[in-house]
Amino acid sequence: MDTGFILPRAASVSDPLRLAVLISGSGSGLKSLLRHQSAGSRMHTTVLVISDRENAGGLQHGIDAGVKTVTVSLPKNIAPIEQRAIHEREIHGLLNAHEVELVILSGYMRILTPWLVGKWKGRILNIHPSLLPDFPGAHAHRDVLSAGAEVTGCTVHLVDEGVDTGPILAQRIVQVRSDDDEESLQERVKKVEHSLYPEIIDLISSGEVSL
Ligand code: GRF
Repeated sequence: MDTGFILPRAASVSDPLRLAVLISGSGSGLKSLLRHQSAGSRMHTTVLVISDRENAGGLQHGIDAGVKTVTVSLPKNIAPIEQRAIHEREIHGLLNAHEVELVILSGYMRILTPWLVGKWKGRILNIHPSLLPDFPGAHAHRDVLSAGAEVTGCTVHLVDEGVDTGPILAQRIVQVRSDDDEESLQERVKKVEHSLYPEIIDLISSGEVSL
């Protein structure tokens, strides 16, 4: 079946997959990926970090690792539709200029337009802090707690044109505790994210993931 998703090539340690990581915030996921990459022989390497916010704390992790690190802010004083188009064309240009083969969304707080998804379909991954399809959107932990759910977790998926709707590649469960608040839950889920995301990126890079 043609799903429209074109996965990246199978890479090797001597010819690793070239990753770009897109962030908006503290970048703890970026940090854990960079640490994973420097801790052993991997079939992927991060060649570019892009933030949409110039004050994103995570930018420093890219700089510390010696990775090309760029802020691409939304252009100001134009209509939102134009803003998004210009912003994404700039990102697309950077990805191509750095010969990126796989885009890793790691706490990137913008929804990509169908235009950019179409250019990279099958080659954009996201990690979401819930067990999708439950609790999509920007406030997953808050929504989990207010629904009284007993388990939550995280999901790695390919990005499609929807919000947190693309094909699921892996999930991991985290128990919700009765005394959890958003912060404590987020902290425990992030710990699990930080091992799951690099594991799945390893599998994609070695060509072990198919749809
Ligand atoms: C993670 O929980 C991720 O699942 C969500 O945003 C958070 C990013 O955290 N999309 P950080 O910026 O990597 O610390």
